[in-house]
Amino acid sequence: MDRSKKDDILRVLEENRGADVSGQKLALTLGISRNAVWKAIHKLQEDGHRIESATNRGYRLAQDSDVLLAQNVTAHLGDANKDLDVRVYPIVDSTNNEAKRLLAGGLDHAALLLAEEQTGGRGRMGRSFYSPKGTGLYMTLIVPLECQLADAVHITTAASVAVVRAVEALTDKTLSIKWVNDIYLGDKKICGILTEAVSNFETGSAQSVIVGIGLNVSTTDFPAEVSMRAASLFPHEVTRDRIAAAVTDELLYACAHLDDRRYIVDYKAHSMVLGKAVTYTENGVTKEAVAVDIDDAGGLVVRDADGEHTLRSGEITLRVV
Ligand code: BTN
Repeated sequence: MDRSKKDDILRVLEENRGADVSGQKLALTLGISRNAVWKAIHKLQEDGHRIESATNRGYRLAQDSDVLLAQNVTAHLGDANKDLDVRVYPIVDSTNNEAKRLLAGGLDHAALLLAEEQTGGRGRMGRSFYSPKGTGLYMTLIVPLECQLADAVHITTAASVAVVRAVEALTDKTLSIKWVNDIYLGDKKICGILTEAVSNFETGSAQSVIVGIGLNVSTTDFPAEVSMRAASLFPHEVTRDRIAAAVTDELLYACAHLDDRRYIVDYKAHSMVLGKAVTYTENGVTKEAVAVDIDDAGGLVVRDADGEHTLRSGEITLRVV
């Protein structure tokens, strides 16, 4: 099957998402036979697109059809990012691993990698990230950025804000951020971020920053060890293509304006830990404290029995008091 025929039909159905398009109209618009239309529709259905067909009505791309497509992501990206290299993998071990492989192979420009499924999705602290087929947004943005490693850390903070801004703009959901970079819907985690830097050891600077974002969109069957804490976004009528594009626009903007720390204001406004009793572990010792502020570098200022100090990395848990 001619790939461009499938792409063309999908584009027309996408433009009319949720509405019927007659086979005749598709055939005339694209200058192909109705039989060719029918065959292409079948191939698209095999690829996972939810296309409904009915005699006398034609074909309709269902509102909830949600197959990742590079062309759709690009279509939703802002003008400044239309040239971004967008790649979709049906299955990959980890989009962060793939990013590292591409960089090792000489990739020298910004790129967005998306996967329908990850077999070895990675989280922070050596944990795994459950990435079943078709129900999550598993994306890695490669940002070629010559900066000090310390500055690369800010990108993680900016990435949390990018996810929150994008999702809140596209859905009716209100999200919050648990320091450092877990995104919550209510009291359940729906998104995690794993930022890694590919560094130049001679100069101590980062050459590229890899921002891996895993957002549970419609996953339900979480593994037992995370099922009490994890949830999904369940957006209505928002495809992963659109969310990916919106997050990418937000994040690339933030990366280009890292000196402008306005995202810290947004980060604080969405923080679910400020003013709360927390537990943190430092040098193997677990301490109880209250989270009092987030500084300009994204550090968490806590007050405990010894006074105030700032956590730069690690993990906290919220205490029920
Ligand atoms: C965490 O919750 O600790 C971070 C999870 C990060 C998961 C994303 S999914 C896309 C990218 N590829 C990975 O292997 N991990 C990140």
